[in-house]
Amino acid sequence: MTLWQQLTLDRSKKEPLYQQLYRQIKEGITADELEKNSRLLPIRELAGKLEVNPATVVRAYELLEEEGLIYKRVGSGSFVAPEAGMPAEAVSEREQDSLEMLGYGQLDLSGDINFASATPAPSLFPVDDFKIALNHVLERDQGEAFTYQKSQGFYPLRRSIQSYFSRQGLEIPVEEIQIVSGAQQAIDLIVKIFLDYGRQVLVEKPTYPGAISAFQSRAAAIDSIPLKEDGPDLQELENKLSRNRYQLFYTMTSFHNPTGICWSRVKKQKLIQLAEEHNFLIIEDDCLSELCYRGEPPLPLKTYDQPGRVLYIKSFSKIFMPGLRLAFLTLPEKYQSRLLAAKHATDISSAGLTQRAMDYYLREGLWQQHIDRIGRLFQERFATMLAEIKDKLLPPLAIPFIPRGGIYFWLKLPAEISGRDFYLAARQQNVALLPGEVFIHPRNPQANIPYFRLSFAAVSEEEIKTGITRLKKACQDLNQQDSPSDEGYLPLV
Ligand SMILES: Cc1ncc(COP(=O)(O)O)c(C=O)c1O
Repeated sequence: MTLWQQLTLDRSKKEPLYQQLYRQIKEGITADELEKNSRLLPIRELAGKLEVNPATVVRAYELLEEEGLIYKRVGSGSFVAPEAGMPAEAVSEREQDSLEMLGYGQLDLSGDINFASATPAPSLFPVDDFKIALNHVLERDQGEAFTYQKSQGFYPLRRSIQSYFSRQGLEIPVEEIQIVSGAQQAIDLIVKIFLDYGRQVLVEKPTYPGAISAFQSRAAAIDSIPLKEDGPDLQELENKLSRNRYQLFYTMTSFHNPTGICWSRVKKQKLIQLAEEHNFLIIEDDCLSELCYRGEPPLPLKTYDQPGRVLYIKSFSKIFMPGLRLAFLTLPEKYQSRLLAAKHATDISSAGLTQRAMDYYLREGLWQQHIDRIGRLFQERFATMLAEIKDKLLPPLAIPFIPRGGIYFWLKLPAEISGRDFYLAARQQNVALLPGEVFIHPRNPQANIPYFRLSFAAVSEEEIKTGITRLKKACQDLNQQDSPSDEGYLPLV
C-alpha cells in the first residue's frame, strides 16, 4: 500500500486534521516511503480522497514546506525535497503566494476579490487631473523638472503642504517639512537617525508590519501594547514605561492599520506628556485621517505636540496614488541636519517631477476635490461592507471595534480558528484578505491569532457583496471540515 492509501484522519481526535495529515506525510517522507523529487498528490485530489476541505491539505503542505521537507513548483505542484530538511531558501519560487510573503505586502491576487490591498484601485486614480498637472510643470519648468531637487524637497511643494495642512488645523513650520519617497522611507529615515542598535521600541498591538521591518533592520527589541477602542490602556502604558527605556513609540492614532480605531483626545495628550516624562520620541504614521465618515474628524497627535516629541509622517499613498512614492515627514528643526544627511545618503532627493506636479495639484485645489470624491465613495463602500458583514458574518464572527472612518475592518474569528486557517479557506473561495498574524510581533506561524483584516479600498460595491458571501461560505467550509459528525459541531454557522 502506498503512503497515500494509508493516510487516515481521525475526526474524534483533538489534534486538528491538518496536523494529523502533516504528521503522517512527514513520517512517510522521513521513512523514505516517498521518493525524493516525487510529486505529492494534488491538493484537490487528496482533499477529495480524505473528504476534507482543500484548505486542510494546503495547510499540511505548508507546514511540510516550512520544514524544507517538500518544495513547490509553480504550476506543477509539490514535490518531496531531495534532502529532508532542505533549507527553505534553497527552494526556488516557493515564496509565491506564501503566508510569509504577506508580511512584506507581497501577494498574488490574480482572479481574486481583493480585500487585502489597502490602496485604491487604479481606476480611482485621478489620472486626467494629474496629467494636467504634469503637462503644466513640463511646459513651465522644462528640463529643470528633471534635475536633482534639494534633499529637503521642492520648496514650493513644502509651502503648499504647509498652507493646506494649516487650513486643516495642523500648523507646521515650512522649515520642519521634509519630502520623502513614501511613508515607509520616512520610518526608515527616523530609525536611522534615532534608533541605536539593539535598543527598545514600543508599538501598538496589532501594528503595521512595514514598521516592524524597519525596526528589525536595527535589531531593535520590539515590545507591543494592546489597543482598546480609544487607544491603549493608560495604566498599562505607564507600567511599561516605568519598567523599560524605549527610544521610540510607533503609533497610528487615526484610523489605525489594521483595526480602524482612533485614539481619544485624552489619550493622545497623555501620550505626549508621557513622552516628555520618559524621554522618548513618537512616530505618528498618518495615512487615513481624511477619511472620516461619522463624528468629528480626528486631529493628528501632532496637533497637541507642544514639546516637539512627535515625528509626524503623512503618506499620500492610501488616499491618492502609491506609485508616486510621495509623503512628508515633520521633524523639529534641531534634528534637520541629521535628517538631511540620512535622506541624502538614502536617495539624494525624491523625484523632482512628481514633487512639482504635486505642488500644482495641491495649489490648484485638485487635491481637495480628489479627497472629497474619494471620501464620498469610500463612505458608501464602508456602509456596504459593514452591512454585509453584519448580515452575513456576525455571529459567529465579531467586530471588536466598529470604526468611524478609514478603509479597514478588523474581524475576530471564533477562538479555535486562526486567521491563517481562515485566510486559506478564503483563498479557496478566491478572496484575498490579510490574516491577523501579519500584524502581530513577534510573528509566529504556529500561534493561533483569531483575527483578520478586510480592506475595501480596491473593491467595488458588487465585489464587496460577492466577497462577503464567499467569506460566509469559507466559514461554513471550515466548520464542516472540523466537525466529526453532528456531535462536537464547532460553533461556526
Ligand atoms: C500604516 C502605514 N504606514 C506606511 C505605509 C507605507 O506607505 P507609503 O506607500 O507612503 O510608503 C503603509 C502602507 O500600507 C501603511 O499602512
